[in-house]
Amino acid sequence: MDDDSLLGPDEGVYDFDDDTADAELRDDVQFAVRLQDVTREYDLGTRKILALQGINLEIRPGEFVVIRGHSGSGKTTLLNLIGGIDYPTNGRVVVMDVPIGDYDESFRASFRLNNTGFIFQSYNLISTLTTLENVMFPMQLTDKGIPELEKEAIRLLRKVDMEERVDHLPWQLSSGEQQRVAIARALSNDPPIILADEPTANLDVESGQMIRNILTELHTSGKTIIVMTHDSEIMNLNGIRSLVMKNGELFEIG
Ligand SMILES: Nc1ncnc2c1ncn2[C@@H]1O[C@H](COP(=O)(O)OP(=O)(O)OP(=O)(O)O)[C@@H](O)[C@H]1O
Ligand SMILES: [Mg+2]
Repeated sequence: MDDDSLLGPDEGVYDFDDDTADAELRDDVQFAVRLQDVTREYDLGTRKILALQGINLEIRPGEFVVIRGHSGSGKTTLLNLIGGIDYPTNGRVVVMDVPIGDYDESFRASFRLNNTGFIFQSYNLISTLTTLENVMFPMQLTDKGIPELEKEAIRLLRKVDMEERVDHLPWQLSSGEQQRVAIARALSNDPPIILADEPTANLDVESGQMIRNILTELHTSGKTIIVMTHDSEIMNLNGIRSLVMKNGELFEIG
């Protein structure tokens, strides 16, 4: 254990500043995210559900965007569209200036691995893989060898103060620890955009604080952060842009 890992959650354990290697290549990106007249309708037999309607949103690289909204208002649907794991019924989704809907699934799969890191409310770690293997899992599409991937995964786990749990399976970790592993996994391909869906909802106070600190550090290091949340402490963080979703529509606050 290095000295830093002895610090508490408020004491700046996390240092993401050396993560900017790819950022220079992306300096010319105008919008991290651009949604134009986006609608998402789900067809449930005889019923249609309008989950998103007429969404227009522009997010600049490096913004920290916090979106709140009642259950069922469309937050997860919106995040899934930005992350390219769902598609709009109408409208355009542009991520890092790339109109992802214009490409086939194989391009989209590698695009989202390289450009968006997902953090979920329920962590979604693979139950049969260790901490280290979970973080290495999204790296498989690269042509690097296993030792190099391992080294990179350990470096990411050190950032979230989890390097001492590399061999644990998810059920052997606390909720806060699982979420920190999930964050390391989200960072595994050094994506410029982090998408988080209620990342502190299932955590105790201290773990929630750690996750907020990590998100803040990631923002400071230049990542674009988009968080769907009910957590008033995330909504009160410095430097954020706040929006609210109501019945599938998105409104800017303030
Ligand atoms: N795959 C789907 N098929 C049909 N309806 C869906 C699907 N996904 C979402 N919906 C519906 O779309 C609406 C928006 O759902 P969504 O999950 O985006 O809400 P949310 O704001 O994330 O809610 P919560 O705060 O409870 O997570 C809901 O009415 C939901 O039932
Ligand atoms: Mg949701």
